[in-house]
Amino acid sequence: MAFKVGLLGLGTVGTGTAEILLDPAGRHPILQEITIKKVGVRSLDKPRKLKFPQGTISTDLTAIVTDPEIDIVVELLGGLEPARSLILQAIAAKKHVVTANKAVIARYGDEIYSAAEKAKVYVLLEGAVGGGIPVIEPLKQSLGANRIKSAIGIVNGTTNYILTQMAAVGADFADVLAEAQQLGYAEADPTADVDGLDAADKITILTSLAFGKSVKREQVLTEGIRQVSITDINYAEKLGFAIKLLAISQNLGDCLQVRVHPTLVPKSHPLASINGVNNAILIEGDPIGQVMFFGPGAGAGPTASAVVADIMNIVGVLKSSTNTENLDPLLSCSHQEYATLLPSEELVTRFYARSLARDVPGVIGHLGTCFGKYNVSLESVVQIGFVGEYSEIVVVTHDVKEGNFRLAIAEISNLDAIHSIPSILRVL
Ligand code: HSE
Repeated sequence: MAFKVGLLGLGTVGTGTAEILLDPAGRHPILQEITIKKVGVRSLDKPRKLKFPQGTISTDLTAIVTDPEIDIVVELLGGLEPARSLILQAIAAKKHVVTANKAVIARYGDEIYSAAEKAKVYVLLEGAVGGGIPVIEPLKQSLGANRIKSAIGIVNGTTNYILTQMAAVGADFADVLAEAQQLGYAEADPTADVDGLDAADKITILTSLAFGKSVKREQVLTEGIRQVSITDINYAEKLGFAIKLLAISQNLGDCLQVRVHPTLVPKSHPLASINGVNNAILIEGDPIGQVMFFGPGAGAGPTASAVVADIMNIVGVLKSSTNTENLDPLLSCSHQEYATLLPSEELVTRFYARSLARDVPGVIGHLGTCFGKYNVSLESVVQIGFVGEYSEIVVVTHDVKEGNFRLAIAEISNLDAIHSIPSILRVL
């Protein structure tokens, strides 16, 4: 039996996916039953690495998602539109869908999952988070017996590369970003990566799978890495931390906490040693404890590996099941109720703050008094360097309520002895 795929997009991941499907030898035998019927592209003029039979490549994407002969639509266009509309059209035409589009799933997952449930088709998205790392299917299946407590990940390779390079060569953010762009590791417009938007899409998706509750993407606290300086990386290093852009989702019982921000990670923590473009996701559940998924979080081959696995899963179900009335609940995604998120001022975490102060008697005393007034307990206070005439004072707090910490910082900023507070970062 042959199963026909309509592939939308022939960019990096689309080409990687086609390469696997066109060369099944030595891989799982089910791949020999899958053929690419159509490939949809935006322009026929672009030079292409792969050769397809005449008439396979087309710019009529709507014709592909409604083609009666196509069983599975593989959406690898990226971006919100026309990707979202094409996915919905494919579902309406009773096609199963495989996508790696985290932006669409994070924002329209509820609409897409509901449409797919109604049409009794699968929408699979392993490639949307962590590139080649299997994490979506483990959350749906292998870890299904657990009560998940948290999912904490380094889910953006570009920012992890930048932070790793800053620490390795002692360079500032702007210089490393420029170099990463020259090398092709960072996009010409790096906004989605460096401002944490891509990571926020990914943690939105992981949260709904881990906790069975959807999250409104716009409610995810999102801070990127532009404000991380080499000075902070060096202080963090001295204090025993690495700075990482973490995507964090935690179950607090009656609500969830979902956030993306640069974080001081203790060097003994498993995520502290994830370097370069790699991704890792640490899941904690009961009874399993901690399990970490690590590997290449982007790129043609790794992401195509995840996309093709989704195609194979669908073909496996189509081959083995005569029941088209019910979806396999361990494979399908469904829209659930929306989670209540913890307001950010209620967040309890440790903080790192670096301030520049006049070198006069009593400054550290004033700082301590202000923090104490708002119930902020200090774990360490360090004064090592000078910046011009100002001394640099770095504090790390114990766990505090974010609201209390912010009140203390507002008051400290107004102290005569304090020139400025150039950085505030959260600590894991
Ligand atoms: N731009 C992403 C990253 C890869 O740097 O990790 C695609 O999700």
